[in-house]
Amino acid sequence: MAPAAAIALNEVGILLTGVGKRYDIVAAFSQHAEVVAVDPNPLAPAQYAAHHRRAVPRIGDPGYVPALRELCEEFGVRAVVPLTDLDIEILAGARLAGELPALVPDPDVARAMYDKYEAHLLLSRAGLPSPPTVLPGERVDAYPVMVKPRRGSGARSIHRADNRRAAEFFARYIPEETMVQRLMDGPEFSIDALSDLQGRCLNAIPRTMIESRGGESIKGTVIADPELAELGRRVVELLSLRGPSTIQVFRDREIGLRITDVNPRFGGAFPAPVYAALPGHTYPELIVRMARGEEIEPHVGQYRAGVTFTRYFWQLELDERMEPTGRDIVTPPGPPSPR
Ligand SMILES: Nc1ncnc2c1ncn2[C@@H]1O[C@H](COP(=O)(O)OP(=O)(O)OP(=O)(O)O)[C@@H](O)[C@H]1O
Ligand SMILES: [Mg+2]
Repeated sequence: MAPAAAIALNEVGILLTGVGKRYDIVAAFSQHAEVVAVDPNPLAPAQYAAHHRRAVPRIGDPGYVPALRELCEEFGVRAVVPLTDLDIEILAGARLAGELPALVPDPDVARAMYDKYEAHLLLSRAGLPSPPTVLPGERVDAYPVMVKPRRGSGARSIHRADNRRAAEFFARYIPEETMVQRLMDGPEFSIDALSDLQGRCLNAIPRTMIESRGGESIKGTVIADPELAELGRRVVELLSLRGPSTIQVFRDREIGLRITDVNPRFGGAFPAPVYAALPGHTYPELIVRMARGEEIEPHVGQYRAGVTFTRYFWQLELDERMEPTGRDIVTPPGPPSPR
């Protein structure tokens, strides 16, 4: 593989939306491009990892897309990358209308992936393996099942039910539309993929799910598993995803690989594919290079397996004007240098 060309800072702008607490993603992009971060929360910590932080109208507001367009013009933004599920469909519409260079799938795919039941139907139509899934009230072939919200996130309101009465109870108890899915019995994995603007898979990197909390993966190991990497490639290419995505999969002891969730955005373990990527091939670097108009060669399966991540909280001190003071609880900031 040819070595990656050095990327000059400030050559292109990247706009990241809904940055929230995802400091690692924003900081990684900021090393390779001029980054603008937006978030509805004025205290969102990850905005401080960007070169510029801006307030914009809320996602449902008619002024949202125009405000992002203005930022694109102001900062020469060539890629808009959403970090939550909440605005993917709106950005997809704006992309289709030629209003924003958003790295997202087409609106119908974005809409289907936001609704896990629709996603199940779409996966099945595409010939991709999804667990047996029905709507509440429909016949279930076998118990146990998981009753979960169709539009859930962060693993909220997911309940195991061992019989029909329990499934009916949870479907009534969860205060939103639900679905009933066969309980997968076996190890769970995530595959972090990156697609180019034409929907070609550039890489797909599988990892274990050692520990997760509220949708974020806390501990995991990148693994050499060609079957999972190939499944990831098929999923993103058959669904014509663009940009980063994460596919959640179980290897069920009885029925084999089944896909339980597809998120057309960075998944809950951003460091894993960064640690595993070959030099110059982390996803932020590849996205910046695509934003510059470069064609990237697909290199599915080329990564370093065996790396493990373990994550922790950190923080920033802000002054009265909400500007970072540059102070930290240790001096200098960060881990100790080798003695
Ligand atoms: N059919 C299933 N069988 C077994 N476990 C499941 C099933 N569906 C979901 N789970 C468990 O619940 C977790 C969250 O499920 P899912 O991804 O569907 O919801 P989510 O709200 O999108 O959560 P996340 O943000 O963690 O992706 C999964 O990581 C898995 O551990
Ligand atoms: Mg999920």
